[in-house]
Amino acid sequence: MADLNCSIGRVESINPFWLASAPPTDKYVNVKRAFDAGWGGVVWKTLGADPPVVNASSRYGVHRDERGSIVGINNIELISDRPLDENLREIEQLRREYPERVIIGSLMAPIEEGAWKGLAEKILNAGVQGLELNLGCPHGMCERGMGSAVGQVPEMVEQTTRWVKTVAGKLPVFTKLTPNITDIVVPAEAARRGGADGVALINTVNSIVSVDLNSMAPTPLVDGKGTHGGYCGTAVKPIALNMVSAIARDPETASLAISAIGGITTWRDAAEFIALGAQGVQVCTAAMLYGFRIVDDMIAGLTNFMEENQYRSIADFRGKAIRNTVDWNELNLNFDLKALIHQDNCIECGRCHIACEDAAHQAIRIGAAPGGRRTFTVVNDECVGCNLCLHVCPVENCIEMKPVANGLAPVTWPEHPLNPLRKGA
Ligand SMILES: Cc1cc2nc3c(=O)[nH]c(=O)nc-3n(C[C@H](O)[C@H](O)[C@H](O)COP(=O)(O)O)c2cc1C
Repeated sequence: MADLNCSIGRVESINPFWLASAPPTDKYVNVKRAFDAGWGGVVWKTLGADPPVVNASSRYGVHRDERGSIVGINNIELISDRPLDENLREIEQLRREYPERVIIGSLMAPIEEGAWKGLAEKILNAGVQGLELNLGCPHGMCERGMGSAVGQVPEMVEQTTRWVKTVAGKLPVFTKLTPNITDIVVPAEAARRGGADGVALINTVNSIVSVDLNSMAPTPLVDGKGTHGGYCGTAVKPIALNMVSAIARDPETASLAISAIGGITTWRDAAEFIALGAQGVQVCTAAMLYGFRIVDDMIAGLTNFMEENQYRSIADFRGKAIRNTVDWNELNLNFDLKALIHQDNCIECGRCHIACEDAAHQAIRIGAAPGGRRTFTVVNDECVGCNLCLHVCPVENCIEMKPVANGLAPVTWPEHPLNPLRKGA
């Protein structure tokens, strides 16, 4: 039987599914509902010192695909706009009522030692099992010198982490990183130097999600004007996966616990992050769009996956994809794939042909079959195995990519005879 119990930065959790710091975790009533639904833990909505911030109305914009489904949310919300004491009382109550569930306190303060330490101490006194430093909000707070304004400066990441770690003692500290940076390993290294037990990533991606062409302003609209905000949801998952893998692969940061965040909607998303080294995952947008009950499918799906693959614990497959995640220079350039179109499954839509003609390698020919049917066949000599036809084909199992046994030994670019910089070239 697969066991979902796990340790995330030394915090024991009944499963790897936590809710990320955001509206789903901003008060007693939500978090109680989340725990009743089965979430292993929550990172409380970020707390700041009183007086509370003032939020704008409206707060969310959305990015839809061509079928109308939401692929991402853009928000311009700030940190908690409720009094600190009220939040802390609710955390204490929930810790009493749900002792086996996790509450991590998220905090943000101006860049002063006393402000960070004082706030951290108050939150620790409420009984949280760890702290998360919000160094990521790309709107509103950064204009006050907080959030991503701190997260983008490695010296400040290190400093704030050290201040908080000093008061947290043995309790784990997660530094939450902003993706609005060139190389995520740099702030992760800074967090490690500051004594972080783990990193949480990603916070939201700085963005304008759309422009309202009637009012000629970015959305969400606040009295006719808009601003850049934080983008999250399914669309940011690839960015987050890459950043998590970069931290997990780098020898300087590989020892950090990773609490992965970004577009996680299904058990499969969670399993992918765990395979790339995450100890646990956090979810925000999916819970906002579909409600807390999505955790049922996450738990059932992950359990099935683990049982089918004979993984008894999360640790059994955590990081398993890291060794296969390499730099481009380590790929075998003699590996050769060709597309094969299974004629029986083809619905003659021609999308593979058009994509290949217009944007790939002109390797799919149209022919005629008896009965007026159109046929599409691959010219192997032209096909470079790019996968584009496979991705645009609307029919499952119609196009297959088949490896060619070309008899060539594996070769990487640094070893390749055409590389002018090859040793001995
Ligand atoms: C409305 C909203 C409010 C958020 N507020 C916070 C916050 O207070 N503190 C924080 O660390 N992250 C905050 N986030 C970011 C999320 O915790 C998370 O990092 C991000 O949304 C990516 O995860 P997702 O793709 O699952 O949404 C917020 C996100 C949204 C959508």
